[in-house]
Amino acid sequence: MSDLQNLQSETLAAIAAASDEAALEAVRLSALGKKGAISALLATLGKMSPDERKTQGAAINALKDTVSTALAERRGVLKDAALDARLASETVDVTLPVRPAPIETGRLHPISQVMDELTAIFADMGFSIAEGPDIESDDINFTKLNFPEGHPAREMHDTFFFQPKEDGTRKLLRTHTSPVQVRTMMSTTPPIRVICPGRTYRCDSDQTHTPMFHQVEGLVIDKSANLGHLKWVLEEFCKAFFEVPDVKMRFRPSFFPFTEPSMEVDIQCRRQGGEIRFGEGDDWLEILGCGMVHPNVLRNCGIDPDEYQGFAWGIGIDRIAMLKYGMPDLRPFFEADLRWLSHYGFRPLDLPTLAGGLSA
Ligand code: DAH
Repeated sequence: MSDLQNLQSETLAAIAAASDEAALEAVRLSALGKKGAISALLATLGKMSPDERKTQGAAINALKDTVSTALAERRGVLKDAALDARLASETVDVTLPVRPAPIETGRLHPISQVMDELTAIFADMGFSIAEGPDIESDDINFTKLNFPEGHPAREMHDTFFFQPKEDGTRKLLRTHTSPVQVRTMMSTTPPIRVICPGRTYRCDSDQTHTPMFHQVEGLVIDKSANLGHLKWVLEEFCKAFFEVPDVKMRFRPSFFPFTEPSMEVDIQCRRQGGEIRFGEGDDWLEILGCGMVHPNVLRNCGIDPDEYQGFAWGIGIDRIAMLKYGMPDLRPFFEADLRWLSHYGFRPLDLPTLAGGLSA
């Protein structure tokens, strides 16, 4: 077989074997590119005698045509195959069900929902929201709230303390939201009407206690705020929050260092086979602590107790969320279990409003 025939059969075999367009282009370059084998042969024509050029020229050009045609045919085949493969991989099955959008599947945690509900209720009564830091000073968490140094009431809060600093002071994780009362009184002049929802921490853990939990504090300071107002605010809150037309409340004397007098409040309920219903029955359930702000606390925060007076309360948010939405165990609140959240969670755009119904 002549050299030309050899070159032709090798090149045609390489074209047939090229499995994609890139491989085919490599074959083209090696045959017809600037430094390709066929181009090199064509370059020899110039040095040939006219007779030689006639026969060899025709043979080399015929080889070039054959290879060019084979390249074009193979390119067509590979292009079709590439298109078929792409169409197959991009097939859309229009009969598949539509995947739900994130807005359909995402859920608000019950704590967020209850915080939104509280905010809607108290905002409607003219309260604003105050916030404070989770890491507090001993002074603001305890001393300014009339817990004297070494007073046993400090021990009732199983406090998480940070290491003491060189000057002997130590920070702590706030054990209640009452320090936000202090911060509010120190930074604003009365009249004051705020609620302070937020995280609180105590070293405690069982079915109804977690080391981190939530409270909402309420504070009203003006020249005439009294116990009657306090009872009205709390009653209105309980009716709105539990979405019942009437609720009986029982105020029992209690003790908190920062209020005098101090009370704990129970609400009327009926317990039925593991369920609790409010606004009926003859059982009672404790839900909050409250009282008239102690004159020492007012004084500690720069407010003259001979001119101003007021009341405060503190509610466990997790507890009222459990009661309202029938969640028996507190621990799953903080376990980030999607199944629990999709069962107990709330749709994200259903913001609670008093007009629209809080939990509707
Ligand atoms: N800080 C109290 C606690 O965590 C709750 C409380 C009781 C807050 C009475 C108040 C109040 O503002 O007046 O146990």
